[in-house]
Parts: sequence; structure tokens; C-alpha cells
Amino acid sequence: MPLVPYALTRPFLFGLDPEHAHELTMNSLARLQNTPAQCLWQQPRVDDPVQLAGLNFPNRIGLGAGLDKNGRCIDGLGAMGFGFIEVGTVTPRAQPGNPKPRMFRLPPAGALINRMGFNNEGLDAFVANVQRARSFRAGGGVLGLNIGKNAATPIERAVDDYLIALAGVYPHADYVAVNISSPNTKNLRALQSDAALDALLSALQARRLELQRQHGPSVPLFVKIAPDLDEAQVALIAATLQRNKIDGVIATNTTVAREAVAGLPHADEAGGLSGRPLAEASNRVIRQLRAALGKRYPIIGIGGVMSGADALAKIEAGADLVQIYTGLIYKGPALVSEAARALQSRRQER
Ligand SMILES: Cc1cc2nc3c(=O)[nH]c(=O)nc-3n(C[C@H](O)[C@H](O)[C@H](O)COP(=O)(O)O)c2cc1C
Repeated sequence: MPLVPYALTRPFLFGLDPEHAHELTMNSLARLQNTPAQCLWQQPRVDDPVQLAGLNFPNRIGLGAGLDKNGRCIDGLGAMGFGFIEVGTVTPRAQPGNPKPRMFRLPPAGALINRMGFNNEGLDAFVANVQRARSFRAGGGVLGLNIGKNAATPIERAVDDYLIALAGVYPHADYVAVNISSPNTKNLRALQSDAALDALLSALQARRLELQRQHGPSVPLFVKIAPDLDEAQVALIAATLQRNKIDGVIATNTTVAREAVAGLPHADEAGGLSGRPLAEASNRVIRQLRAALGKRYPIIGIGGVMSGADALAKIEAGADLVQIYTGLIYKGPALVSEAARALQSRRQER
């Protein structure tokens, strides 16, 4: 348990506009990380090592992308006990994202709706921040860097943005996540369709080989997909990932579906829905991916993990590792330990 229980902090944060609460938290983490004040939220990391895609993960619980878009708080977030942390989405150039308000809480559903639109400070600032992170990686934590395209880049030129971003983050990443599934950048999810995905992934794979020749180690590539896909689309994506020798898949991003929250305040806001109502859709996609990809293909499951039992359900659906985002907002850092312990004890039972 952190020194300051989240039960005390949450009412204050939930009294603020969601984005303001987010900024306040991130600014505090950035200022206080790697100082003695880190004991306020620090937790011992659950030891449950696993090897995946050639990487050694100290445990199977990670932070999902989008919470730390600029990679400012890697060490502070790492102190919560995560085995891995994914930062970004970063785009080649800085951009402001969509007009505010663009993040909404739906507390009765344990959910958020966001249409941030990849607000971020751009590749150069991101890489400078990532290079400043020390303690998380020194302690064996795994760092994923998540890349996307600028809103102003036409979708026909999307590949150019991903190639620029890949080259920029490659020397600094343990893995690179390719985000083609945000609902908040126009036409982005069209990149999941067969021919577009094949073109993007073959270009990324070719550039990765060049980068490997320049920088040494091979950095695994993961592709992050949406939950709003039917079984045939998931099967096509799975085949395209394998054909292009992509190392793994992250499932899923937020959903554009709203049935599960119909009638609640903010339910009709445009954007992506995350949290508890997403869990089952995400588990379905994970099950379909596992069936299509076979036993050994690396899958990271994310979507609606609010408890240790939810994390276990992701593993049972076929995920190797699990990430959380919205659960951290509702439950606080204690969820990281709860989820990691749930997976650790399942392994001990087997
Ligand atoms: C406010 C917010 C911003 C997000 N930004 C990103 C992002 O920049 N890149 C990305 O790949 N996913 C982003 N996501 C999606 C999450 O990483 C995750 O896939 C999704 O929220 C489902 O997990 P959860 O239910 O645990 O939140 C964002 C989610 C939220 C709530």
C-alpha cells in the first residue's frame, strides 16, 4: 500500500475537471519522482518474471499508452510496481490535440470517454524525456514507446509519419507499439484494413531491419488494435501481422460503442470509451487473436481491468501480459499490486 492511500486522494482529484486532475497528477509525479517524496506512492514490485518477444518482464502488469504521452513520468509511474510501461502516443511533430473538454468520467460505469487526439510535444521532446528516465529501467522495468501519425498528415502519407517516429524512438525503446486504433484521429483506424495494414507493416519491418543494422539489437514491434472489429477482420489482421513478422499485438484500444453506458451522463460524447464496459469486447478480441495466431504469439491484453480478477480474465482469454489505464484512475496504484499478485498466484497454483 502506498504511504498515501488513493481513497484519500481520489475525492479531491474527482472534484476537478478530468484533464486538470490528470495534469496536476502528472506534474506532481514529474517533480517528485526519484526524490524521497516518491515513498508517498511507491509500492514494492511483485516479482513474477516472464520472457516474451525476447524481453524479460519483471512481472506481467504494465501501464497502457496515453497516460504519459510525453514520457515525462516513467520513473514515478514505474515506482507503482509496474513490470512494464508504455508511453506515447508520440507523433513526429508536436500538436495540440482536439479542443477541450475532451476527457469525461462516467463513474457509475467505471469508465472514461476521451477524444484527446494525440496531444503531445512531438518526437524530439519525447526522446529527451525518455533519455532522462533512470530508475525504472535500471531496476529491470521494460519500456514501450508508442508511435502514431500527426493529425495534419493526410492518411495516404501516414506511413511516412510512422517511419519517422520509428526511427526516432528505436534507439531508446525496449519495444515499439504502433498505434493504428485510436478513434480520435481521422481515418486512423482505416490503417487496420488489409491492404493498408500490409503496406504499413512491410514498410515498418524494412525500416526496422535498417535500424537494427545501425543500432545493434532488434527491438520488437507490437501493433495496437481496436475492439470494434468482427471476427473476420481480426483474422485478417492476425494473418497480416504474421506475414510481416510483427512480434506481437496489443488488444485493445478504446471503443466507439456506447450500448454499455447508454443513458449515463456524458455517454454521448464523441471519442473512445475505456474502463469496465470495455472489458468483454477486449477479451473477445483477445480470444479471437489467440485462436488465429496460435499458442506462442505474444499478445498484450488491455481494456477494462479494474481488479485482479479482471487481469486474470485477460490471461484466460489468451493474453501473455496485461496493461491498465482507466483502472488506475478509479482504483489508484494499489490496483497494480493487486493485479500482479493475482497473476503471480495463478502461476503458483499451476
Ligand atoms: C485519456 C486516454 C488517453 C489515451 N491515449 C492513448 C494513446 O495516446 N495511445 C494509445 O495507444 N492508447 C491510448 N489510450 C487507450 C489506452 O491505452 C487503453 O488501450 C484503453 O483505454 C483501454 O484500457 P483501459 O480500459 O484499461 O483504460 C488512451 C486512453 C485514455 C482513457
